[in-house]
Amino acid sequence: MITSNKQNSAEEGIETNLRPKTFDEYIGQKNAKKNLKVLIEAAKKRKEAIDHVLLFGPPGLGKTTLAHIIAGEMGAGLKITSGPAIERVGDLGSILTNLNDGDVLFVDEIHRLNKTVEEVLYPAMEDGKLDIILGKGPSARTIQLDLPKFTIIGATTRLGMLSAPLRNRFGALLRLNFYDENDIVKIIKRSASILKTEVDELGCEMVAACSRRTPRIANRLLKRVRDFSEISEVKVAGQEIVKKSLEMLEIDELGLEPADREILTLMIEKFDGGPVGIQTIAAATSEEVQTIEDVYEPFLLQIGMLERTPRGRKVTRRAYEHLKIPIAE
Ligand code: ADE
Repeated sequence: MITSNKQNSAEEGIETNLRPKTFDEYIGQKNAKKNLKVLIEAAKKRKEAIDHVLLFGPPGLGKTTLAHIIAGEMGAGLKITSGPAIERVGDLGSILTNLNDGDVLFVDEIHRLNKTVEEVLYPAMEDGKLDIILGKGPSARTIQLDLPKFTIIGATTRLGMLSAPLRNRFGALLRLNFYDENDIVKIIKRSASILKTEVDELGCEMVAACSRRTPRIANRLLKRVRDFSEISEVKVAGQEIVKKSLEMLEIDELGLEPADREILTLMIEKFDGGPVGIQTIAAATSEEVQTIEDVYEPFLLQIGMLERTPRGRKVTRRAYEHLKIPIAE
């Protein structure tokens, strides 16, 4: 599935190769880049670690990539973990005490940290202190460890699910947006040259149009186009090859995949186009609420196929037209 949150290791390998290593190579996200450059320059001048940074936005837009770039520009080490991976306070303690001065700790899905771990993280972020409780019951006592100077880069698809105290401990909150289609074309061209595959101008534009304005998806589609070119013994992929690749993946000209169309069709056929609650949509399509909210819905909202109302999600006229379903009067 192209829009999956989870990546298998082969795909991760590709992503690592295609990942830009510097701000100069990184296309798009002008605002986030501008802010980060200032943070980094100022921190370097003061010879300090940069402030904690929270990156938020839909999956696949480059949060992890930016963390690599930030650490690279700071000449700092990067450790990568995620909210669900830090199960216990002890896990957090061992991660933090093993950091070196200036290190960057990337915490993906930071909204999924559990409450106890989160509370230990507050003083660590604010004062560089780690509170450890030794023993149990009446004889328990707390000791405080000084931690190295470090920077947390938190990433989340859900700013709203972060508690206020955690959110407030970040010095910069930066939103990543869906990319301009022109930037996606540039990313596809850059990736094609790294992958040593040729796609002509119209082919690139066609891949871009179906990439949900998301580099991760653009790169995956490009890989499939490369496979198809190789199998068909075509040197330069044009619209014909791209079209065949997309058909095989059941991706339509707007970049919608079967799951998107299923969600919209179900809402129209079973619920008269809505409004309908997210839980109901999830139950009826056998998708998780979180997957719908993180992966499918943001793009469907962005391209005006869905709208949110106080009583639930509603399909728009545009969705009926796209799916070629007549609107019942
Ligand atoms: N590959 C993935 N994301 C990219 C980006 N933002 N710029 C350049 N190449 C990329």
